[in-house]
Amino acid sequence: MTKPDKLPLVVLISGSGSNLQAIIDQAAAGLAVEIRAVVSNRPGVRGLERAEAAGIATRVLDHKAFPDRESYDLALADLLDEFQPQLVILAGFMRILSPLFIQRFRGRMLNIHPSLLPKYRGLHTHQRALDAGDSEHGASVHYVTEELDGGPLILQARVAIEPEDNAVRLAERVLAKEHIIFPMVIRWIAEGRLTLTEGRVIKDGKALEKPLYLTDTGAPEP
Ligand code: GRF
Repeated sequence: MTKPDKLPLVVLISGSGSNLQAIIDQAAAGLAVEIRAVVSNRPGVRGLERAEAAGIATRVLDHKAFPDRESYDLALADLLDEFQPQLVILAGFMRILSPLFIQRFRGRMLNIHPSLLPKYRGLHTHQRALDAGDSEHGASVHYVTEELDGGPLILQARVAIEPEDNAVRLAERVLAKEHIIFPMVIRWIAEGRLTLTEGRVIKDGKALEKPLYLTDTGAPEP
């Protein structure tokens, strides 16, 4: 089987899709990926409009039409198989995935999470960072494993918390960083520079002992 020139992706969303947009924009600017489909578990969301505007196939698989998580995840996996993605991107996909689904795409699925993991897994991360009096917050890109928001970390970006911050303002600044780090990690995978091998993140031939951080110049560093 010949390797496609462009890394085939499917992007899963539940809402606005601004991270999806960042990937679409990078693809238009030369990132070697082919977004084969955008799948949403919610109908009518802005992210579907963004995909359509970019000429990408869209599918809605509404979780409300399924009796339980397992049956939904089976249908989702079958839907993804139609598009043969080499990488599955969770870009604001607000559902917990069952272990069977995750095993099927192990090492081939990325998530972005709005916190400096392992801090603040789950929801309401911005408010939780503010309530805790943290001086910094941020975003993380990681491989997906069975542990919710707990898979091996790849790249993080920090955001300083300002005294006058609220959750909305903070979320905006974190989101701007998400739009940089998610396409960056996808690029490394598309270039064959990043893998998950035996549970370890391998970048440029070396196992990462800790996540990389985005610096002010945009270059990642340990
Ligand atoms: C992002 O903050 C992402 O980290 C979180 O959900 C949000 C999705 O935003 N998981 P968008 O749909 O990409 O605009």
